[in-house]
Amino acid sequence: MDTHLTSPTTDGSRSPRGVRRAELESSQGQADPIDTLPPAFRWGVATSSYQIEGAVAEDGRTPSIWDTFCHVPGAVANGDHGDVACDHYHRMPQDVALIADLGLDTYRFSVAWPRVQPGGRGPANPAGLAFYDRLVDELLGRGIDPWVTLYHWDLPQELEDAGGWPNRDTAHRFADYAELVFGALGDRVKTWTTLNEPWCSAMLGYAYGLHAPGRRDLGAGIAAAHHLLLGHGLATQRLRAAGSPIELGITLNMATADPATDSPADRDAARAADGLGNRIYLDPLFHGRYPEDVVADLAAEGVRIPVEDGDLAVISSPIDVLGVNYYFGQAHSGVDEQGREREDDGRPVRRVVRRDLPRTAMDWEIVPESFTELLVRLHRDYPGVPMVITENGAAFDDKPDADGFVADDDRVAYLTEHLRAVARARQAGADVRGYFAWSLLDNFEWAYGYDKRFGIVRVDYDTQRRTPKRSAHWYRDTIRRVRGER
Ligand code: FCB
Repeated sequence: MDTHLTSPTTDGSRSPRGVRRAELESSQGQADPIDTLPPAFRWGVATSSYQIEGAVAEDGRTPSIWDTFCHVPGAVANGDHGDVACDHYHRMPQDVALIADLGLDTYRFSVAWPRVQPGGRGPANPAGLAFYDRLVDELLGRGIDPWVTLYHWDLPQELEDAGGWPNRDTAHRFADYAELVFGALGDRVKTWTTLNEPWCSAMLGYAYGLHAPGRRDLGAGIAAAHHLLLGHGLATQRLRAAGSPIELGITLNMATADPATDSPADRDAARAADGLGNRIYLDPLFHGRYPEDVVADLAAEGVRIPVEDGDLAVISSPIDVLGVNYYFGQAHSGVDEQGREREDDGRPVRRVVRRDLPRTAMDWEIVPESFTELLVRLHRDYPGVPMVITENGAAFDDKPDADGFVADDDRVAYLTEHLRAVARARQAGADVRGYFAWSLLDNFEWAYGYDKRFGIVRVDYDTQRRTPKRSAHWYRDTIRRVRGER
């Protein structure tokens, strides 16, 4: 479960690119599972505020934890930051036109909390809200459904100064903020995601120190996870009470945790990784309880989840859609290279084992089969709530030609294989209703800065010129074909 968990600075070594050309070619001539996706399947792209907007000090926006973190020496590759990013704040209509040209029906974006409620409490900032107001109108004017994510990691710095997500009060601040945004956009936006990937906010931000705010304390990470879930539940209740018919949910990042071998130690390591990465979010959301094995693992580390009476009922408030972000698989081992199952301090060995699989430029394993397995398993273990793939995509070392065009066959292969994986999961019964590519644009990839490019549209950061890559053309054509538009 270590999305973004590798060191932000790379040593320049690269694993082989993830093109499974043989597999792609061998399936030509046979029916493509992608063509079994129904005409009503939802197609989109996703972005997030801090990664694309820039304009960090305009129209009353105050700093977020990412503004602060980016200016900590060594925290982000090359000292990169989101001050300008893709300058989307000033180029929004042009970017919406790109989405329209791709023929997409939905655009998933996030709202920057410190833009619309500077400092994280108190009244709305009308100038900040006006940006999202214009964005929503621009989308609707072009027949594109807006899908709002309320929190994609840009916590107002003032709330971090007051304790951040490990502080229970932040959950209440989030619910207030959610209601404020809903009050402004809820008449036009019908689909709302509370949080994007609480695992990343909690664990990368507070336990492992790799994301803002850069704390390294497992107890703080677990407290953050619980308060994020609580904030989700409180916001869900507030938005429901506000009355309009809405489609409401949360987005989780999930990597499949395979045991490296069939040994009991490896199986236990995979169980623990799945517990701390996936089930610690899924079980309270869907079953109203934390998994016992995870509670026991944490207790062995001296950590307790700070649950208070009534929290789990709030957290398990019914949702309408589960957003699934999937990028890679992982294999786990409970045995170190010397064959020992215990560290010197007596704790069980827990390590990720490198498999001989193709990888992306993030060094993430390309395992589309695991995506199918994951979706089928979610459908089996957490039934009754439709899923939408709210993010899936890949970074590769793009090589633009003189005109800025990128013939990104590796990304086309990745997206093709993963869409097939989604279609296969549907054939096996998983209720998946849509797919959003991450991302519309190359953008600020957190601790990796601008080095890693996930866009289907290239951004030249010197000129801010946008050039659709081959993957963008492929995506548009695939959607047309599935919809039977040609
Ligand atoms: C996800 C994040 C998204 C982006 C992709 C590559 O974990 O939600 O912002 O960084 O990874």
